Amino acid sequence: MSAWVSINGTITAAEDARISVYDRGFLFGDSVYEVLRTANRRPLFWADHAARLWESGRRIALDPQVDPDVLRGWIQALLDRIPGECTIRLVVSRGVGHAGLGLADAGEPTRVVICSPLSLPPAALYEAGCSLKIVRTPRRDEGGLDPQAKSGSRLLAVMALAEAERAGFYEALRVDPLGRVLEGGTSTFFLVKDGVVRTPPLQVGILAGITRRHVLAMAAARGLPAEEASFPVEALADADEVFITSSVRGVMPVARIDDRRWAAPGPITRQLMAAYQDHLAQN
Ligand SMILES: Cc1ncc(COP(=O)(O)O)c(C=O)c1O
Repeated sequence: MSAWVSINGTITAAEDARISVYDRGFLFGDSVYEVLRTANRRPLFWADHAARLWESGRRIALDPQVDPDVLRGWIQALLDRIPGECTIRLVVSRGVGHAGLGLADAGEPTRVVICSPLSLPPAALYEAGCSLKIVRTPRRDEGGLDPQAKSGSRLLAVMALAEAERAGFYEALRVDPLGRVLEGGTSTFFLVKDGVVRTPPLQVGILAGITRRHVLAMAAARGLPAEEASFPVEALADADEVFITSSVRGVMPVARIDDRRWAAPGPITRQLMAAYQDHLAQN
């Protein structure tokens, strides 16, 4: 099944989609992006993703110069061509310049929507848990970038994930120079200890994950104590359960971090996985 692309509202099959080699997203990672999925063929948490795209843009002074409803219409035109559930990638770059870093010649932003059939991680990762490798690439040092801007400049995350994958792990777990746990390469990190669900606060320098926010709300709605609190990497050793979240993965249990192993999914992780599935069904 093929993917479809919309570039500034013009639709092509993915294999025919082209942008300029002078596009600043390609040249400099001068872009912001979002990745989301559909549930019941509707974009899941659309309002949150639209808000974060504009917020990321605001943080790097990049105005998408399109109405969110128009963008939503471009997405719909692609969804209408693909049967079943989809993954949606939105990229807004600062547009085509003349290969210099200066902004003076940057034209209109390039807005790209890529819709492809939804491809979820293997079921085994949900049934038995994934593995994380601790990687100490400082997230704050990501080109000095604001971690809450979901920008196209992801080189240190790419390298963190490559380090984890080379060692045979599924995802990287990033820890800052103070030894505080941050987040995955493309996921939010959670642990459970004595019945309390805990995830690092945004202030440590992480992305404001959308699934994170909804999982915290789902925990509250089920009477599960949950908090945003910083914890050191040493706290992982006596965590009772560990899981990660992201827009495409949803809630994924973790069975291993470096040499520490858990029987996954644990009971609270299971409850949150079920809550997330209920949410998908109701979308
Ligand atoms: C660095 C980082 N943290 C967390 C997440 C998870 O965020 P969300 O739940 O909004 O997909 C992502 C998603 O790609 C990410 O790139």
